[in-house]
Amino acid sequence: REKIILDMDPGHDDAVALMLARIHPRIDLRGVTVVAGNQTLEKTARNALNVATAVGLKGVPVAAGMSRPLVREQVIADDIHGVTGLDGPVFGEPEVALDPRHGVDLIIDLLMASDGDITLVPTGPLTNVAVALRKEPRIAERIRRIVLMGGAYQLGNITPAAEFNIYADPEAAHVVFTCGRPIVMMGLDLTRQALCTRPVVQRIRALGNPVAVLFAELMEFFTKTQKEVFGWEAPPLHDPTTVAWVADPTLFETKPMHVEVELRGEKTYGRTCCDFYGITGNGANAEVAVKLDVPRFWDFVTETLALYS
Ligand code: BDR
Ligand code: CA
Repeated sequence: REKIILDMDPGHDDAVALMLARIHPRIDLRGVTVVAGNQTLEKTARNALNVATAVGLKGVPVAAGMSRPLVREQVIADDIHGVTGLDGPVFGEPEVALDPRHGVDLIIDLLMASDGDITLVPTGPLTNVAVALRKEPRIAERIRRIVLMGGAYQLGNITPAAEFNIYADPEAAHVVFTCGRPIVMMGLDLTRQALCTRPVVQRIRALGNPVAVLFAELMEFFTKTQKEVFGWEAPPLHDPTTVAWVADPTLFETKPMHVEVELRGEKTYGRTCCDFYGITGNGANAEVAVKLDVPRFWDFVTETLALYS
């Protein structure tokens, strides 16, 4: 089993990442840390507790981390995820409480106590991971690898050049991409292949368990806003691709690239400059996902959500 820490900003697709991580037999979820991103930290933390409750998360700490990006002013994605950050379903009072530790300290504690076998899975802005690396630099050598959702080698989604998670904290992303540990990048190039079509939603809803029904409710709202904002007929389900890679990397084709985050461009701030053709001669610091086995990916999601009763 692969030990992971899920660092997220839920967020509809983050919620699905947690649904998969909590139950997949190949994943050993050691901690959940929350960051500001799709909404303010107060809201993403609340959403994390709601989803943790829905999936019956027990014995796994959930901790709130950084509420602001390192340098830039805060940006949120309420056009996609709504005022709560997880609009659509109605949640009761959460039964899971926040761990008293700061999310950054939880990341540090888990890594320092580990044998170097924990994979970090960030699905939001990279503020928590960057601050953890700066607060306790010794964690770097203990990170097995980082499998993150963020960036793009083609087009952005928050600006023409940049993807939201990287744009929301480019300096943090720079810290992560230069940390020297193996990185797998699930950028928009990959996640735009993971289109959650109506037949997919129907198939999962038909599983009938409460988590599958929650998935369908989340996707109803997400489908609407992705259509309004981008014109997508079906929304790209970005974040769950990270968990899927950890559980079954054969679903993906990746390509080694040197990835550098643009920190000074006026129009390109937060772009992941991916050296697709190796023209800089800089060694690769990331495996960038290029191709998804789409039918097998949806089988993976469906079969994993079928494990809930
Ligand atoms: C990323 O931004 C967020 O809105 C999603 O949760 C995903 O992590 C996609 O750009
Ligand atoms: Ca996210």
